[in-house]
Amino acid sequence: MIKVEENASLKSYNTFGIDVNTKYLCRITTEKQLINLLQSPLFKQEKHYILGGGSNVLFTGDFDGLVIKDEIKGIETVREDDNHITVKVGAGENWHQFVMHAVASGWGGIENLSLIPGTVGAAPMQNIGAYGVEVKNLIENVDAVELSTGVFKTFSNEQCGFGYRESVFKKELAKKYFISSVTLRLSKKNHLLNTTYGAIQETLKEMNVTQPTLQTISNAVINIRKSKLPDPIVIGNAGSFFKNPTVPLKQYEELQNSNPTAPGYPVDNQNVKIPAGWLIEQCGWKGKRINNVGVHPKQALVLVNYGEGNGAEILNLSEKIKASVMEKFQIQLTPEVNIL
Ligand code: EPU
Repeated sequence: MIKVEENASLKSYNTFGIDVNTKYLCRITTEKQLINLLQSPLFKQEKHYILGGGSNVLFTGDFDGLVIKDEIKGIETVREDDNHITVKVGAGENWHQFVMHAVASGWGGIENLSLIPGTVGAAPMQNIGAYGVEVKNLIENVDAVELSTGVFKTFSNEQCGFGYRESVFKKELAKKYFISSVTLRLSKKNHLLNTTYGAIQETLKEMNVTQPTLQTISNAVINIRKSKLPDPIVIGNAGSFFKNPTVPLKQYEELQNSNPTAPGYPVDNQNVKIPAGWLIEQCGWKGKRINNVGVHPKQALVLVNYGEGNGAEILNLSEKIKASVMEKFQIQLTPEVNIL
């Protein structure tokens, strides 16, 4: 039996805290429930959207269809030897809680991805990344169900087509699959600790840590994120609203001529990635507030909802920011969040 709620509120299911409703809402806790739903007339009649933790979505109005909430849980050991453990994790598990479980168990690899909001199933979707680590480096495979046929498929890491905040699930196969679990391979010893990111080094120093461990790196990341990024429970937001744009090296050099401090990270010999937060700050947006919505005072890449804001206001603000970055720098910003 599948239970479907009608005219359900999505306010607590999106981290922007936008007060919208969906015509239908169905929570999926088992693969069997999903198959039943896929065979139902409701699924065939209505448009649908699959929701994980709602931390990367902006609802600009009520959803006139079926929201399928991925709540499949469980952490299962697939393989283990002295050096590594491979675990299969239900897509509906909270990402940060899973990271905390890994750190406490002494499993290394994802400690730099502490405190990222959202679910485990959303992690491969946009190849989450922070402080020098991307989840694609740990994922062995992703189990998913094809929505049109109900057929199960296991995607190898290669088949996931990972890129910067990208995967096959966001591009070619967008809206075609429901991710049910993610299998990750983590280290049990000789951990490859990544402390190259400047902010991590500084924070570890402040914490008087000379020999970093999984736990202290995780703590450092949590401290950095808490100091810079607003807690969605307190102020609605979806993390970075835009991706960091990549520009040709020549354009970056021109930018540096007029702005010697312009930050940039080489992508390859020809291209440089520029922090969108810097571009937005240069356009004077940091800390600006327009009625109920605004740009976070500590990180210009994060748009916030101060409480009563709606999706249209956030979208409108994002369009204004895009236009001013284009006018000042001739650089196109692309949203990282899904706009519905
Ligand atoms: N900067 C500014 N002003 C700002 C913000 C940033 O000038 O208001 C400049 C600074 O030069 C800073 C640089 O941007 O050194 C980089 O800033 P930060 O280290 O905060 O990282 P980011 O590029 O803004 C990316 C990810 C974050 C991730 C951090 C840390 C994207 C779109 N965002 O942000 O991911 O936590 O790196 O690795 O790639 C997310 O995707 O939701 C997210 C929070």
